[in-house]
Amino acid sequence: MGHSDLGATHNVLLRDIISQHISHTGPITFSDFMALALYHPDQGYYVRCDPSLDYHSSPNVHPVFGATIARQLAGFWRQLGEPSRFDVFEAGAGNGRLASDILRHLRLAEPALYEAIGYTLQDATYRQTEAVNFIDAAGLPADKVMVASGLPETDTIEGCILSNELLDALPFHRVRRRDGRLYEVRVGYQHDRFVDAEVDAGPKIDAYFTALGIEPGEGCDAEVCLAASEWIGAAARALRRGHLLTLDYGYEASALYAPWRKAGTLLTFYRHTSGDDPYARVGRQDITASVDFTTVMRAGEASGLRTLGLTTQAEYLGALGIGEGLTRRPAADGLEAYYALRRSVIELTDPSGLGRIRVLLQAKDVPEISAVAAAG
Ligand SMILES: C[S@@+](CC[C@H](N)C(=O)[O-])C[C@H]1O[C@@H](n2cnc3c(N)ncnc32)[C@H](O)[C@@H]1O
Repeated sequence: MGHSDLGATHNVLLRDIISQHISHTGPITFSDFMALALYHPDQGYYVRCDPSLDYHSSPNVHPVFGATIARQLAGFWRQLGEPSRFDVFEAGAGNGRLASDILRHLRLAEPALYEAIGYTLQDATYRQTEAVNFIDAAGLPADKVMVASGLPETDTIEGCILSNELLDALPFHRVRRRDGRLYEVRVGYQHDRFVDAEVDAGPKIDAYFTALGIEPGEGCDAEVCLAASEWIGAAARALRRGHLLTLDYGYEASALYAPWRKAGTLLTFYRHTSGDDPYARVGRQDITASVDFTTVMRAGEASGLRTLGLTTQAEYLGALGIGEGLTRRPAADGLEAYYALRRSVIELTDPSGLGRIRVLLQAKDVPEISAVAAAG
């Protein structure tokens, strides 16, 4: 859907914009609804709201997250033979916190890599005119950081493409299996309310489940993010040589589409409370669903990436030594910082919280050794 005709709408409520659109076109896909609710150019959630008021993402917990990812980048750089130019492209970079923590850590701990790095931030909501202010506000060194409006052209990046909670924020379709048939759940508008509108699932959704050899169970709702595979394909093409590091909530397809998962994985977030009604607080709450990592891995492989591993954030950060700073006895005046670090390491690796985020590592044209092993 082109959104240009739906822009310039400062005085009209987003729910009115979407409902009027539906009254002209008929029910829209959930993906189009979500694209407007989260990314409408004036009134989308990610354009107008500060997500840190609604949910905690790892970079916003503590700089130790960025410092630990920085160690991984050092491992990648060594695997490539310590080139004098190393690109880091962070997609869905949000407030730039991860970038700034990575660069701050590398400036002290890995000066040669810091010299080599060119760090590019990209986010669907950045406007180029605001980019310079944004870099200043995030405390990023202007000579190290660029802002891009999208993934670069084919074979441009030599280094790493990195994202944290990007794929689970991409617009997805909703489906429902009922009476032995698969329906797509679109969004209609009736009696002043957004409502589910079932239509037969189309060929793209059919093909998605045929490729997996799995279908949601009878009576199950589920989500299908076609955009995630498209993004991975584009990222794979942009990478000339190096790694693609993806951190996101998700499962392999057999667990994501398990017959017991009746309500799917759609969640909303508002003021640190999760909900399941995507039609509430339109444009003022986040909407997300778990990533199908089986499809994402296959999409990467189809575009020339090798899958190196899929693990949990808890295991991954542990393997990279996130807890090492806790083994040094703190000085008396460092106790507060020590306890803040300890709380944060526990939060980032909590298996029922941030620690259950999955970490997918894919690579193109790099030597076959364990990337985590190369980090030290
Ligand atoms: C859940 S937030 C995560 C932000 C940040 N990475 C963090 O961990 O705090 C998802 C981010 O992805 C951005 N985004 C959504 N679609 C995108 C796309 N196609 N390309 C780049 N960024 C996108 C959103 O604007 C938002 O800033």
